Amino acid sequence: MTINKHKDIIINKYNEYDEDERLVSDRGHNLEYLTTMRYIEKYLKPGAKILEIGAATGRYSITLAKMGYDVTAVDLTPKNVEIMKSKSKDLKNFRCMVGDALNLRKLQDKTFDMVLNLGPMYHLFNKKDKNKAISETLRVAKKGAICMFAYLPCASLMSGYGLRHLAAERLGEVMDNKGRFKDIPEEIFNAFHIEDFKKLFEKTNTKYITNVATDGIAYAMREWVEQLSDKGYEAFLKWHFITCERLDQQGYSAHLLYICRRK
Ligand SMILES: C[S@@+](CC[C@H](N)C(=O)[O-])C[C@H]1O[C@@H](n2cnc3c(N)ncnc32)[C@H](O)[C@@H]1O
Repeated sequence: MTINKHKDIIINKYNEYDEDERLVSDRGHNLEYLTTMRYIEKYLKPGAKILEIGAATGRYSITLAKMGYDVTAVDLTPKNVEIMKSKSKDLKNFRCMVGDALNLRKLQDKTFDMVLNLGPMYHLFNKKDKNKAISETLRVAKKGAICMFAYLPCASLMSGYGLRHLAAERLGEVMDNKGRFKDIPEEIFNAFHIEDFKKLFEKTNTKYITNVATDGIAYAMREWVEQLSDKGYEAFLKWHFITCERLDQQGYSAHLLYICRRK
């Protein structure tokens, strides 16, 4: 498959998708947003310059700009960038553009205090592209900047198996002998074993900080989570935030967030 064909498949997918809706559609998706924002805010310094790559319709980026940060948002899907533009007309500290995580040529080296790569890693199907998305993110980050990468663990792709639209009978063909899914670009979504994701950073100029289970058990137990009373949900949230860096939570989570500091 050519690179452009693969890009078209992703753009077509996100043309049909309402990203704003996705992050508030239920408690599980909202938890992914709340947890990610919590960690973004934990590491933000006043006056920070932020870049979000794969910003979709700007749920994170526009919120951060409204909080007063200087935000640049990049997305591969032109429709999403148009939506961001229309939502941010009055924001002078926000700009957005169509761009590819694999080649951020419009952005200069060492520009941002925080770089959020929240989406592109879900759609990469060869080692060269995975490394390139990481090296481009780190290239535009200042020395000492915090970089965050959202990714899907293999267990998440398995439990939400609909993501790959494959019959379980075909599992033998699509996984390797370590239970990793093979790189099949037509499938749109790809996933990692946690240790393989961490290995991608071994030769980079970064210091590992943490790996967060952004939706923890909420996706696997969504029916239970949805029917909790507000008080019950509040107690569950408290538990989730205390435990979301634990290894056992990471095994359940539909989305993970790798956080590091550029040296
Ligand atoms: C699942 S959404 C994530 C949106 C938002 N950042 C979030 O975390 O909810 C993925 C977004 O990444 C964009 N995307 C996918 N591959 C990309 C790439 N190579 N470069 C830039 N954006 C990309 C898609 O167009 C889509 O809007």
